Amino acid sequence: MTKYTEYKNTRTKINDISKAISVLHWDQETNMPKGGAGLRAQQISTLAGILHEHKTNETYGKVLNELSNETLALKEKRNVEISLKSFSQNKKFDTDFVIELSKTTSECFQAWQEAKKQDDFGVFEPHLTKMVELKRKQAEILGYEDHPYTALMDEFEPDMTTKEVEVLFEQVKNELTPFIKQVFEAPQVNDAWISKHYNHQKQWDWGIDLLKFCGYDLNTGRQDVSTHPFTTDFGSQDVRVTTRINETDLMEMSWSTLHECGHALYEQGLPIEEYGLPSGTSVSLGIHESQSRLYENNLGRSYNFWQFCYPKLQALFPENLGNISLQDFYKSINKVAPSLIRTSADELTYHSHIMIRFEIEKALIEGSIAVKDIPSVWNEKYKTYLNVDVPSDALGCLQDVHWSHGSFGYFPTYSLGSFYAAQLYAKLSTDIPNYENEVIKGNYQPLLNWLRSNIHKYGSTYKASELCERATGEKLNFKYFMDYAKNKFGNVYELELAKV
Ligand code: CO
Repeated sequence: MTKYTEYKNTRTKINDISKAISVLHWDQETNMPKGGAGLRAQQISTLAGILHEHKTNETYGKVLNELSNETLALKEKRNVEISLKSFSQNKKFDTDFVIELSKTTSECFQAWQEAKKQDDFGVFEPHLTKMVELKRKQAEILGYEDHPYTALMDEFEPDMTTKEVEVLFEQVKNELTPFIKQVFEAPQVNDAWISKHYNHQKQWDWGIDLLKFCGYDLNTGRQDVSTHPFTTDFGSQDVRVTTRINETDLMEMSWSTLHECGHALYEQGLPIEEYGLPSGTSVSLGIHESQSRLYENNLGRSYNFWQFCYPKLQALFPENLGNISLQDFYKSINKVAPSLIRTSADELTYHSHIMIRFEIEKALIEGSIAVKDIPSVWNEKYKTYLNVDVPSDALGCLQDVHWSHGSFGYFPTYSLGSFYAAQLYAKLSTDIPNYENEVIKGNYQPLLNWLRSNIHKYGSTYKASELCERATGEKLNFKYFMDYAKNKFGNVYELELAKV
């Protein structure tokens, strides 16, 4: 057996255990009876321990180190490089740190739930303070060149620096924010139809239709209902999505279904023969999110998409939509309005929500603000960027779960997703012959084919920035998002673009 085969076998085993944990998580979110929670936590924790042993096994480390000195083909070389990096990082943490972090995470999550329920930041504060201390320590252990935040972000968006994210948000501040202000001043669109009553079963059927239209393969996937929609995979031949159905908001289900569909298509498109290897795994959360945003927004909220889909939706709900024209429907699904809650924000103001979180968590990690300052800083930023008064911490700084999980450095990947999506979409729209016509006809296969051959099939073979450059001819460029935003929303709100 060659060294590389030995490496591949170990990675496969590691992946098998990791996917078994994913099955348990999926079941917990979709089917498990309440009473199963205690034992389930134990089962997952046992498997997590076994997984950690395999990931940090000395023999495996020796194989990786030896392979890193051998001459390998590009893909193999990159696989070994990524695996060695993750092995070395796992080795940097002693058991005490791992246990302390895991214990703090559980306590912090519980405190966050309680704090949110009681609308009392004070309940969360001591636990989050502990968490931030540990995260700062983690950044020191991992090491960094420019900023400790980069070390933490690496877990979600490898190879991207804090500086690069700062540059992007400077552009959000200088270009997107003034544009949003202009949209706010325009007459508002009417979207009253969205909140009429929409039958649960009919919505479910419509969601399945959307998945099928977009090319999601139900032979290698399935959909269930969960509180928070998500996508999970047990290898590219079993990729599952969940959705949620709100009988008084038709679009909540539609957007979450299209969003998860984009994530799932990426997973279904990863090469099965690379199972367990970085080359068979998604490259970063930013790229993952670009796939979901592309289906949800660039395609899903476009006029052309609904030329095919809207008559079908009208036929399902004639009592609510019979008198709403396609043009009015299109405008209302693209309504832009200031809001308190990130997850229900529109395509434009969404990035103000992310920018606020990024600024706060970066300041926490560098130590320029303390946890106790979060509520006041949060409220001040919502006023500045969105002109919104935050009435309570429950609807303000306690709304997201991320910090209680210790996921510092995660938020920027949401915005990166939209920015990558705009750039990819601009390129594929010109690459694919008669792209607009295909979409109008309801043929989304050419789009999927383009993503398959430019993004999905590579897994992590190229870094995110390289992948973007190979697919579009240049590195991530915010200009594409701004162009997309001005073009689309200038039209929806009938703005005089010369003034923009
Ligand atoms: Co997503």
